[in-house]
Amino acid sequence: MELAAFVSNLERLAGEAEQAFGSAHDAASVEQARVQYVGARSGQMKSLQKEMGALAPSDRPIGGKKLNEVKDRIQLALDSAQARLNASSPAVAKGLLLDPTLPGRRIRLGHVHPITQTIDQLKQIMGRLGFGVAEGPEVEDSWHNFVALNIPQDHPARDPLDNFYLSVAGRSAIDGVSENARLLRSQTSTVQIRVMESVPPPIRIISLGRVYRPDEADATHFPMFHQMEGLWIDQNVTMAQLRSILRMFATNYLGSDVSIRFRPSFFPFTEPSVEVDFLWNGNWIEFGGAGMVDPNVLSAVGYDPEQITGLAFGLGVERLCMRRHGVHDIRDLYRNDLRFLHQF
Ligand code: PHE
Repeated sequence: MELAAFVSNLERLAGEAEQAFGSAHDAASVEQARVQYVGARSGQMKSLQKEMGALAPSDRPIGGKKLNEVKDRIQLALDSAQARLNASSPAVAKGLLLDPTLPGRRIRLGHVHPITQTIDQLKQIMGRLGFGVAEGPEVEDSWHNFVALNIPQDHPARDPLDNFYLSVAGRSAIDGVSENARLLRSQTSTVQIRVMESVPPPIRIISLGRVYRPDEADATHFPMFHQMEGLWIDQNVTMAQLRSILRMFATNYLGSDVSIRFRPSFFPFTEPSVEVDFLWNGNWIEFGGAGMVDPNVLSAVGYDPEQITGLAFGLGVERLCMRRHGVHDIRDLYRNDLRFLHQF
């Protein structure tokens, strides 16, 4: 091929391309011209480039130089067409480099954590049974966590190995056990005391929150978990009422006609005391403890045990949630693995 013909083809192509880009007034026509002139597969630039091979070897340096010049001209025309489009788009005018023709990005909705969902459901169920919600602090003193709950100084429940004591005013955590010890509460029964100290009977409350015990984490233990505490204080409250409330609660939450079983037990703050089992899917499962509020506890908060009676219960929230949803390892609830959490 003649060098002159090759060069004039290039010139013609450059002229056409400049014209096309110059008159392109929207993104689609710029794109169309881009494909036509500089498209990697079938663009006209590409086919001219191939014709280089047909030039005499001595003409190739000049032909190549011309080819590069024309490439640059076309690229310039393309760039300025794009710049012109961008400048006229309202998004760019506002300072946003946004291409409104791109498909949208899907917004992933977050999920309420399964334990928080469970807590909300428990509040609803107990609300329908007439229980209001009370709250108490997670950092407690030994009065509310032990003394007022009839747990004496030498009781094993106060062992530093079973509690998260906090060091107070320069003293070590262990020294602090005796008098004004502070600790992360080991049970929500603390809230019973706080409520009874501040209001006279009758009382009908639940309290839902975190409790802490230095247990090694495994499939059924975690150093932090949640309890639902219930307290009903009035004249003539009975064990039969305790049983009905727990049975109605279980039937509502677990969704079928759940049977309930009390096994004799011991808690310093209730007398008598029981462990509470629910019969669910053919298995008896322990969900917590309960009993009639001990007269010593009623006296500690200034009530007259001759006049006032009460029932109390404490259930494990994780256990309820795990049974209902078929979760087998409590650690799954606290690993923050989105693949797990997305299922709720
Ligand atoms: N506080 C007890 C526990 O943590 C449960 C309980 C609450 C028992 C109320 C009786 C009454 O194991």
